[in-house]
Amino acid sequence: MGTGSDVGRRARLAVLPGDGIGSEVTAAAVTVLKAVAARFGHDFVLTEWPIGAIAMRTKGSPLPEDTLAACKDADAILMGAVGDPAYDAAPRDQRPEAGLLGLRKALGAYANIRPARIYKGLEDAGPLKPEIARGLDLIVVRELTGGLYFGTPRSLDLEAGTAVNTLPYSRPEVTRIVEVAFQLARGRRRKVTSVDKSNVLETSQLWRAVATEVGTRYPDVALDHKLVDSCAMNLVLFPASFDVVVTENLFGDILSDEVGALVGSLGLLPSASLGDGPGLFEPVHGSAPALAGRNVANPIGAIATAAMLLENGLGLQEEAAAVRRAIETVLEKGARTADLAPRGTPALGTQEMARAISGAIPVRVTV
Ligand code: IPM
Ligand code: MN
Repeated sequence: MGTGSDVGRRARLAVLPGDGIGSEVTAAAVTVLKAVAARFGHDFVLTEWPIGAIAMRTKGSPLPEDTLAACKDADAILMGAVGDPAYDAAPRDQRPEAGLLGLRKALGAYANIRPARIYKGLEDAGPLKPEIARGLDLIVVRELTGGLYFGTPRSLDLEAGTAVNTLPYSRPEVTRIVEVAFQLARGRRRKVTSVDKSNVLETSQLWRAVATEVGTRYPDVALDHKLVDSCAMNLVLFPASFDVVVTENLFGDILSDEVGALVGSLGLLPSASLGDGPGLFEPVHGSAPALAGRNVANPIGAIATAAMLLENGLGLQEEAAAVRRAIETVLEKGARTADLAPRGTPALGTQEMARAISGAIPVRVTV
């Protein structure tokens, strides 16, 4: 898509706010997308669809058919969050999470890309000493449609007190996700860390063998293998030493929350879930029921997710860069949401932060 042309891009976006703070941060991201459309002359047609608990309540399914159809038909999908404690005891296929997992699977969105870095001014927002946090700039590439999340057989018998989950991976599944990691590393510091538990799990032995094999096709990129426990520790000790981390579905889920803490707040992290169909763009954080409806959630993760949508979903690099610069500008000026503000200092609400970021998107200069 030509970003340099004067002709605006028309794009159809499916917006899935979901549950809890999902609707608030998605509204914030939409505010920014509308500002981008207005300032760069694009025509974004947005339609909203239910997913998760809200969809269970209104349509009786966490992933209603019309939501899925709209997603498959869209140029890109913006998702908020799913999850609601009211469904904690519900059968798995009726839980809000089943909606999101079903959507990822139906879209073939196997590559979840979760970039994280320390924003200027936020070096001491997290638990690390600033000199250790500084330089954290990495991507977690999480396999998203396989592994423990989807493996069969699976079962739960609460009365008998037995349950089963299965961790399967095949060579093609590992190959394609590790390829994504190597491709990303080529545009960065050329270092891939493949994470597994090969000292215990057969699946991880396959993972490590395939990662090594793929690595031979990328002699210009350094490949390092780490066990997941050691990786979790090294992320805290030497966060700046990581470039691209690639791992299976559940390990990636866990490590990316850890990275969220390291950068100062999980509320900062965006992600793109890419694969066979339209891209699904979702912040890394969850529905945070305790924060919902209070205009206190940090919308930066969702807004940075909108930037990934612009870049990876619509091919609008310049627009994505403008959104990222706007986030940086606002943070450098000292704007903070409650999760980032030091105790006793003033904090912006979700909407106020979104307006500040929209206001910092530069007007495009055309000649
Ligand atoms: C995430 C979330 C989801 C996941 C949940 C909501 C199903 O934690 O995107 O990291 O586990 O993948
Ligand atoms: Mn998660």
